[in-house]
Amino acid sequence: MIGRGIGMAWRIYRALLIAFSLPVLLAVYFRRETGNEYGIGLMTKLSLAIRIARNTWRIPSATHFVEHLAMLTSIMNVPASIEGCIVECGSYKGSSTASLSLAARFCGRRLEVFDSFAGLPEPDTTDQTHTILGRHKVHTYAKGSWSGSLEEVRSNLSRYGDISVCHFNAGYFEQTLPTFQQQCVFVFLDVDLRNSLETCLRHLWPWLQDGCCLFTHEAQQSEIASLFWDSAWWSDQLNTVAPGLIGSGTGLGLLPTSGAYRSDIGYTIKKPFVIDYQTVPQTGRAE
Ligand SMILES: C[S@@+](CC[C@H](N)C(=O)[O-])C[C@H]1O[C@@H](n2cnc3c(N)ncnc32)[C@H](O)[C@@H]1O
Repeated sequence: MIGRGIGMAWRIYRALLIAFSLPVLLAVYFRRETGNEYGIGLMTKLSLAIRIARNTWRIPSATHFVEHLAMLTSIMNVPASIEGCIVECGSYKGSSTASLSLAARFCGRRLEVFDSFAGLPEPDTTDQTHTILGRHKVHTYAKGSWSGSLEEVRSNLSRYGDISVCHFNAGYFEQTLPTFQQQCVFVFLDVDLRNSLETCLRHLWPWLQDGCCLFTHEAQQSEIASLFWDSAWWSDQLNTVAPGLIGSGTGLGLLPTSGAYRSDIGYTIKKPFVIDYQTVPQTGRAE
């Protein structure tokens, strides 16, 4: 009884913490420049945020409302002059898909959705467990988990997103991705397994425009985060350097958990325009 009371108090406290930290966490989302090139103003952003909160509330989801808004911020900041679609691999029941479809509509882009629509494939021995070092947890995986049928996803998109901008690619990534040949400006990989992630990266990285972002939803897992730093893999498979992962091991600090702000999402940038970055000489004097 006391334990349940404490659990409830923590949930309320956490919800309040999230609500009060939104202006900080979403400062870039609400910045005037974000979405400006697409004619997206403050009122549209507020109504988008409400619709996205509703998506994550109504559709069974592995992702959080704040994570969706962080990804929308990235999409709205892609210069309108850069051509390409938005890609999602791993839709489950369509919660993140619905949010990304709204971003696609407002930014005048198409959303390409890849999923088996039958859940995870059989994990091989390296994918049966993944370790989250910072949280002392081990995730386990089994064939068929996280299954959402194409009918369920289509129905959720019709109700909560914009199905008219979506194109569905049904089947295991190994079958559907090799024929995909389109420039893209944003990629979201929520695919759980390292094997699936490798397939997605092999086929999508070459099509991602320079300076654009690729998000993963498994940033806290050692087996996933380490791939983004694995120089040998990137050199062998894609003939490029490992791009690294912002949020490796902890995810972006978006949500309060015991001991730290974390989340499941992290991202990398393809060939970032470092030349435009601010140069800060490290002189030992306070700025
Ligand atoms: C955790 S769920 C995605 C959650 C979703 N993004 C959300 O917001 O609720 C992982 C998804 O990846 C898909 N998946 C993983 N590996 C796959 C593969 N090799 N081929 C096709 N689909 C795969 C599963 O079918 C499942 O829908």
